[in-house]
This record gives sequence, C-alpha cells and structure tokens, in this order.
Amino acid sequence: MNKTITILPGDGIGLEVVKATTVVLDKIADMYGHHFDYQYADIGGAAIDKYENPLPQETIDACKNSDGVLLGAVGGPKWDNHPKGIRPEQGLLGIRKELKLFANLRPVTGHESLTDSSTLRKEVVDNVDLMILRELTGGLYFGEPQERRQVDGEEAAVDTLQYKKSEIERIVRQGFEMAKLRRKQLTSVDKANVLESSRLWRETVEEVKKDYPEVELDHMLVDNAAMQLIRDPKQFDVIVTENMFGDILSDEASMLTGSLGMLPSASVGSEAPGLYEPVHGSAPDIAGEGKANPLATISSAAMMLKYSFDMQEEADSVDRAVAEVLTSGHRTGDIAKQGEPILSTEEMTEKVLNAL
Ligand code: NAI
Ligand code: MG
Repeated sequence: MNKTITILPGDGIGLEVVKATTVVLDKIADMYGHHFDYQYADIGGAAIDKYENPLPQETIDACKNSDGVLLGAVGGPKWDNHPKGIRPEQGLLGIRKELKLFANLRPVTGHESLTDSSTLRKEVVDNVDLMILRELTGGLYFGEPQERRQVDGEEAAVDTLQYKKSEIERIVRQGFEMAKLRRKQLTSVDKANVLESSRLWRETVEEVKKDYPEVELDHMLVDNAAMQLIRDPKQFDVIVTENMFGDILSDEASMLTGSLGMLPSASVGSEAPGLYEPVHGSAPDIAGEGKANPLATISSAAMMLKYSFDMQEEADSVDRAVAEVLTSGHRTGDIAKQGEPILSTEEMTEKVLNAL
C-alpha cells in the first residue's frame, strides 16, 4: 500500500524521536511491501521561528492531504516570552481543532521487564493494561470566555468549562466501543458532585449506556480516580473523561510504566487523518544530546499503522519488537537503573530494527 505521512518534528527531542521513527517505518515498509511518503512541515517553536506562527496554513494543508500525521513535540524555554504572546502549544491545540480530533487515546501497558523502573511496587504495576480516552476539543481549554477582567477592583482571570451534549456523546460512544473490543469495562470520570458540566456528562453517559448492555459501566469522581490509579491500576480497563481531567490523569498513569518516554498516543476524529504523538514534551533538558527514548514515538507510529492504515499485523510487529527490546534489557537513560549501560536514541532504534 502507498501512504502519505505528514511529519511534524516540532521542537527539542521531537526532531530526534521522529527521525528514529521514520527509520522504523521504512523497515516496516520494506518487510511488508508498502511505500510510505513523508512530507515534512513546521509546527510549534520551529514554525514561530520561520513564520511567526505556530501553525502555518501550509502545515494544516499538508496534514489534511495525508493519510496520517506523526508529531514529535513542541515547546521550550526559548519561546516562553514571545513579545506577541505567541506560544508553541497553540500549534498543537490548533492542529487538533483543525483536524477535528476529538478523541485522544492513551494506552498504558506495563512491560514485565520494566516494573522496577516504576516508583510503585511491582505487584501493583506489573501487567497493567488500561486505556485512557480523553476528550480533546472541548472543555476548559477551549471554552469562551477565557480572559482577564477586573473583579471587585482587582485583576482576575476566567476560564470556561463548557460541553455540548453532542460533544459528550461522541467521545463516550468511542469509550463504549473501545471497551467492547477490550475487557468490556468502562469507567467514566467526572466531578459531578461540583460541576454542572459533569452532571450533563454523567446523564449523557447513562443514555449512551443503553446501547451497550454488554459493557459494565461505573462512574468515578476525578479525585478518587487519581487515587485509585496509584492504589490499584489493574482495576481499570477503559477510562473515558473530559479534556483537562484526561490530561492530568494520563500523565499520572504514564508513571505506572516507568517513564514518559514510553507512552504513545493517538488522536482521532471522524473526518481527517489521525494524529499520532508521544505523550511526552520536547524535553529541553536533554534535547540535541541523543539521549531521548524513541519508544513512545515508535509505539505511536504502531498506533497509526493500526488505526489509520488498518495494518494490524504490521502494528503488532512493531509492538512485539519494542517489547522484545525491553525484555532483552536495552535501556535509554530514562528507564535505566543505576549502573545499567545506557543506549543513545540511535542505538535504541537500531535494537528495534534488529528485533523487527
Ligand atoms: P517533558 O515531557 O518535555 O519532560 C519531562 C521530563 O521527562 C524531562 O526530564 C525529560 O528529559 C524527560 N523526558 C520526556 N520525554 C523523554 C524521552 N522521550 N526520553 C527521555 N526522557 C524524556 O515535559 P516538560 O519538561 O514539562 O516540558 C518541556 C516542554 O515541552 C515545555 O515547553 C512544554 O510546554 C512542552 N510540552 C509539549 C508537549 C507536546 O508537544 N505534546 C507535552 C508536554 C510538554
Ligand atoms: Mg499534558
């Protein structure tokens, strides 16, 4: 098959992990007789430097005219105080909105051989296998108004948490669909004891539930969910939640597997191509040093093969190669224990190619 992939390296280690991942994709193309065409475009800080715009129109067009989008990461201290208030993250929020990617899938899979790099006890995290499904285009990050104003004669700021029923329904439906394909257990996370938007969320979940009698549903308040994820993560199969709660819970859940450098993600909608990216950021502290763990991005590409290209076997090959590399004890700095030899980004990528 021929596929066009838009590559958005972004900033910092984004460049390094994306490069590693195209090498792995090329190997998959060779093995299975596919052809992947890469078209590169700028986003985030790199795009601000070139165009004074974190999301140029060319980038949007390139993404829309492709079969899948692979993104590294955006941001860094260099762009923290732009005189016009332009921020790299606007590129990321913007592209999700442009492509109408309302669902963010974040699988958290514990690798047996990595359990001692988690800060949690082995018996708590070994074989954890859960999926966080985060709503991505609504809620507090997009609600209007979002502004500064005077309140009682002093400076104040307001953000708005708004959800339309249709926005809740489409993400919740995805949650039920995903649970159906997995262990048939869905946990909807909200703050219905305090927030009106959460009460609408909960009502809507109950309505959609009628179409999925085979899926077991429970509701959990977000503060409790944060606690339960650490206490007993294996109780979860699929967690569905709104934008900000999902942002926070998925970073928390990433630590179950030991490192942010391990976590892939997919953002999908119903029209445009999906966007695949690691959960981690641009890691300015190690950028350009060849220290980045490429596995989260490589696993994100595996999700692209599976969800956007319908290449299940190819995706499984990548996942198996990643698992094998870990089982063989190969480690980048973020997942190495004291005294263990540390591989560079390139060396780790080479190990994945060999495993393939
Ligand atoms: P970060 O995820 O970039 O880094 C947090 C820590 O984890 C750092 O110590 C870093 O070295 C380490 N780390 C992250 N990914 C790694 C990898 N693949 N291999 C080895 N170590 C890794 O988060 P931080 O430091 O809060 O943010 C840095 C910049 O990234 C900021 O400008 C932030 O806005 C941006 N960011 C961008 C995201 C994105 O593009 N999706 C997501 C999160 C942050
Ligand atoms: Mg985040």
